[in-house]
Amino acid sequence: MTANTNPKGIAILGSTGSIGCNTLRVVESLGGEQFRVVALGAGHNVDTLADQIAKHLPELVSVETEEAAHDLRAKLFGRDIDLPRIIVGEPGLIEVATHPQADCVVSATVGAVGFVPTLRALEAGKRVALANKETLVMAGELMTQAARASGAELLPVDSEHNALHQCLRGEKRSEVRRIILTASGGPFRTKTKTQMQESTVSEALRHPTWNMGAKITIDSATLMNKGLEVIEAHWLFGFSPDQIGIVVHPESVVHSMIELVDGSVIAQMGVTDMRHAIQYALTYPERHGCELPPLDLTALSALHFEPPDLDRFPCIALAYRALRAGGTLPAAMNAANEEAVQAFIDERISLTDISLVIEAVMDRHHPQPATDLAAILAADEQARLSAATEIQRLAKPTSLLAERAV
Ligand SMILES: NC(=O)c1ccc[n+]([C@@H]2O[C@H](COP(=O)([O-])OP(=O)(O)OC[C@H]3O[C@@H](n4cnc5c(N)ncnc54)[C@H](OP(=O)(O)O)[C@@H]3O)[C@@H](O)[C@H]2O)c1
Repeated sequence: MTANTNPKGIAILGSTGSIGCNTLRVVESLGGEQFRVVALGAGHNVDTLADQIAKHLPELVSVETEEAAHDLRAKLFGRDIDLPRIIVGEPGLIEVATHPQADCVVSATVGAVGFVPTLRALEAGKRVALANKETLVMAGELMTQAARASGAELLPVDSEHNALHQCLRGEKRSEVRRIILTASGGPFRTKTKTQMQESTVSEALRHPTWNMGAKITIDSATLMNKGLEVIEAHWLFGFSPDQIGIVVHPESVVHSMIELVDGSVIAQMGVTDMRHAIQYALTYPERHGCELPPLDLTALSALHFEPPDLDRFPCIALAYRALRAGGTLPAAMNAANEEAVQAFIDERISLTDISLVIEAVMDRHHPQPATDLAAILAADEQARLSAATEIQRLAKPTSLLAERAV
């Protein structure tokens, strides 16, 4: 690796989460000549954040609330370091995302909270390494327009899209017939609808191949994660809904594929560790050595591929419907999903209720053009209210929930 005397500045939105922590591991493994952490944004996990500050010495840090800022100051008290400036809330995340010294912004908060900060980073012309797929689902048109206008690069961290980005390198778009997203199938791949309906939160959080934050793990259990990824792929690569396929691949070794007009299929394979995708997005177009062990093909007994079961996993069809309808419907779908996932985690509804909540909200939503921020935020807010009503209607009596927990 050649010495770089001018390290690139990195800002991370969601530094204390699964992707955020892995990003810092990548930055550490690449060495200080490559990257310098200039700003970190997090929610409430001040223990992890304080350690990250002590190690990476960012100039600016944002947390969700004044209370978290107070706790963070207490954690940093007495540490022999230059203290960063600490700010709060969405304005704080926006300042992190637009920090003048940040060349690259890793967008790794979860859900809609990252939307405006990520948009501002694109408007400011930053390279955005995007993990927070919900932002592109909500406002793909707005975000890609902002990137085009400012010349910002939008690079996917999501392993499937990162794989597609690698497969598409050097291929003529007119020669690509379709793209194929792989899905592990989640913990309920082989379970019946009844078993899914009765599943507990801890069963749904047991992902078979990836270790991730709670929201994306539940999205993987309902396969809404794959639905969100179909919309994400559309905005990142410009393929129509009919050109975006899904195949269930339980081993999660093939991260995604492209099919060319002559029938050739190009796949990207690798170990199931997000550090590969993160490093690619940070160093693109260069490649650097990686601390992860390479994929050992001889250790794999078999690779399996099967079509997704659209009956047991209705969220997939809902996502295609939202993408085809366009406008603010994807934003409404995303908001309904976030509310329903939280209601499931809080044990208010069952896993199979999640798709019912989303469908009801989508049925009631009147899509508007999604070309301005206000329309998207209004759709998001209205869909959350609509989801709350539906969740209330479906909510199990406390006695039933207690029974299920036994
Ligand atoms: N994990 C993966 O392997 C993976 C793979 C592909 C894509 N993604 C996508 O990447 C995103 C992050 O996933 P994750 O698994 O890393 O999630 P996670 O572990 O739950 O982390 C979420 C991060 O967002 C922060 N956060 C949450 N609410 C916030 C708020 N209101 N203000 C400021 N910060 C807030 C959290 O802060 P605190 O913890 O400090 O509260 C945490 O740092 C998601 O969109 C997911 O779909 C993840």
